[in-house]
Amino acid sequence: MKGIVLAGGSGTRLHPITQAVSKQLLPVYDKPMIYYPISVLMLAGIREILIISTPSDLPNFRRLLGDGSQYGLSFSFAEQPSPNGLAEAFVIGADFVGDDPVALILGDNIFYGQGFSTTLRTAAQDLAGCVLFGYQVKDPQRYGVGEVDEHGKLVSIEEKPAHPRSNNAITGLYFYDNEVVDISRNLKPSARGELEITDVNLAYLRRDRAQLIELSRGFAWLDTGTHDSMLEAGQFVQVLEHRTGVRIACLEEVALKMGFISADECYALGTKLAKSGYGEYVMNVARVAGSTG
Ligand code: G1P
Repeated sequence: MKGIVLAGGSGTRLHPITQAVSKQLLPVYDKPMIYYPISVLMLAGIREILIISTPSDLPNFRRLLGDGSQYGLSFSFAEQPSPNGLAEAFVIGADFVGDDPVALILGDNIFYGQGFSTTLRTAAQDLAGCVLFGYQVKDPQRYGVGEVDEHGKLVSIEEKPAHPRSNNAITGLYFYDNEVVDISRNLKPSARGELEITDVNLAYLRRDRAQLIELSRGFAWLDTGTHDSMLEAGQFVQVLEHRTGVRIACLEEVALKMGFISADECYALGTKLAKSGYGEYVMNVARVAGSTG
């Protein structure tokens, strides 16, 4: 399975912060926002990842992330010149996706919860059609909303409905079989002129090939769309990391745990960041895993 992180958009709701810097490069406590979605793809076992962003922001993502080999990954980069919708990712990324299934994650979505990697790997393995992830929120009208019947079967999907049929927001993580490329190529732009991800999901639903996995109450799906929610997401990460001593979405650690890099390679990555607490943490994780560095 391939992975795409969509990190485009102009971040207007966070102006003036995002006037010169891409939203997905802003810090969420101790690391850039895009580390969180990348770690989700890694936990799903995905190693080939396409980063899509605007022509002006893409060089910064390249500078931050390199070619991915340091994490045992392969990063590719592609431009989305104008914000033509989330589903355009599959048109832009068609060659990258090739004949494979693909996971799309939005560059500003933060997920945290026990058992998430198992959920991800199971969903990736048994994929038939598309898998969406739902999360109970108090303001579903801000999101795509999924409705399930009493057997847990997905029966409707609506984008930002004024009168939502449920509280189940559809999060910004989507798993698709290879048909998604053709479906996206044939989509008509919505009233706001975008290729909507909800229309892709509806195409799967009509074919009875869409499944919704509901993320449980103990799970956290955090918003970073406003000044307050971004600060709160940072505070959430800070509280958890301080309390447990374990960092969330530390790419070096995830690469090590997934067996993508060795303990010595992990240690070497830590030494490059040694002046920060993050770097010290990476070195320590590597030592515990057997690095003699
Ligand atoms: C997009 C999708 C929406 C989804 C949300 C998740 O909305 O259109 O269905 O629930 O991402 O973050 P946007 O945030 O682009 O308005």
